[in-house]
Amino acid sequence: MTDTTGTWGGWGPAIRDDPFGHFAEARARCPVQQVLLADGHPAWVVLGYDAARQALSDPRISKDMVAALQANGDVVAEGLPGPGFSRHMLNVDPPDHTRLRRLVSRAFTPARIAALEPAIRAIAGRLLDELDDADPGAVVDLIEGYAYPLPFGVIGELLGIPAADRPRLHGWFQVLLTGWAGDPPPEAAGASGKIVNYLSELADTRRRRPAGDLVSVLVAAEDDALTTQELLSTLFQLVVAGHDTTASLIGNGVVALLDHPGQLQALLADPGRLPAAIDELIRFTAPVPHATFRVTTGPVTLGGAAIPAHEQVLVCLGSANRDPGRFPAPDVLDIGRHDGSNLGFGHGIHYCLGAPLARLEARVAFEALLGRHPGLRLGAGRDALAWAHGDGLVLRGLRSLPVILGPRQPSPMNDHPVAPKPRRHR
Ligand code: HEM
Repeated sequence: MTDTTGTWGGWGPAIRDDPFGHFAEARARCPVQQVLLADGHPAWVVLGYDAARQALSDPRISKDMVAALQANGDVVAEGLPGPGFSRHMLNVDPPDHTRLRRLVSRAFTPARIAALEPAIRAIAGRLLDELDDADPGAVVDLIEGYAYPLPFGVIGELLGIPAADRPRLHGWFQVLLTGWAGDPPPEAAGASGKIVNYLSELADTRRRRPAGDLVSVLVAAEDDALTTQELLSTLFQLVVAGHDTTASLIGNGVVALLDHPGQLQALLADPGRLPAAIDELIRFTAPVPHATFRVTTGPVTLGGAAIPAHEQVLVCLGSANRDPGRFPAPDVLDIGRHDGSNLGFGHGIHYCLGAPLARLEARVAFEALLGRHPGLRLGAGRDALAWAHGDGLVLRGLRSLPVILGPRQPSPMNDHPVAPKPRRHR
């Protein structure tokens, strides 16, 4: 039961900006199928929920793409920032994965994440104060002014990136992560190099003068528990994973709620629904529509497809999360679903380490925004929204989101901050 559908990715704006209809058609044809990627490399794309869950947790499907490259030179085009800085937990298998994840997990314990809440709330409040300086009827960019700097500020605090350096880094990441199609342009490689240089210097500074941040924790473990290459790769990955994803969740989530005023009103009427609403917004808006690439180390049967060894596997989370076999009425946004089993944060040993932090950031971001401006509305036509990330398959978010915040108003979100619910680790 296999099917070759031609290409995957490299879509025009219509599919790239709203890919769910395309995913549904492809999934209905076949839950696992062989495709050619836009860069010409072959891959197996996994679209059905059950097959996606298996692919994300099957030990015969490896995350070590560098080893795959060495074994089979043309398996995958090497992405930025290059093999030298790709040695982080998302690109390795056990036992290296276990070792690297354990080290970083020290900064992500439930107590440490909960302790960040006042700082996150302070960042959100300061950003909203700045936006409120504009006339209440003015059009402001919610990505540039709120959704992006909020998680960027939080990951900056966590790692210990001085506030004065963040705008520079922000600029480089914008070049690296947004807007280009096809092969990476020279500016992207340049930006990547600058980020890596910056992180190397930051690590040097912390080797000389440790502080209480995550960079200091990791440099203290250097040599004994991780190599310098793993350290720098890990810092790079944490900054990338830690901000753009959450910014997209906030931006995509605001658009989805404005598209569904009944759901927005239900949320405003009962802020206790926010944690479940955030999971539903992740399922529905797919801030990470595809997991990162994997490769088979031996033959694997997945969703009825017999995949030989040394083949690339691309799990389409955005499709799996709208599989009607798993989610009734999957194309309906329903903040009352109370179903935590969507794959938006992945599954298995690479399940998102930052998921509790992302959920906390999103909860505070929505509480603070809707608590002040429950009447916010789009400041441009729905079709004029500018989606970012060019041809990239792993991230899906807006480049800008023009909104009119409207006057500050009383809102139940102000009165009832929602306590975080403890979650089981997967
Ligand atoms: C809405 C926000 C986020 C989404 C949707 C998201 C999604 C994901 C997904 C799907 C994966 C698994 C990828 C794969 O298996 O190929 C992942 C892994 C990861 N994420 Fe997130 N993420 C988010 C926020 C964050 C944040 C805030 C951080 C850290 C500050 C973070 C750190 C990580 C790390 C370290 C991994 C690798 C885990 C491993 O390999 O063991 N993420 N994330």
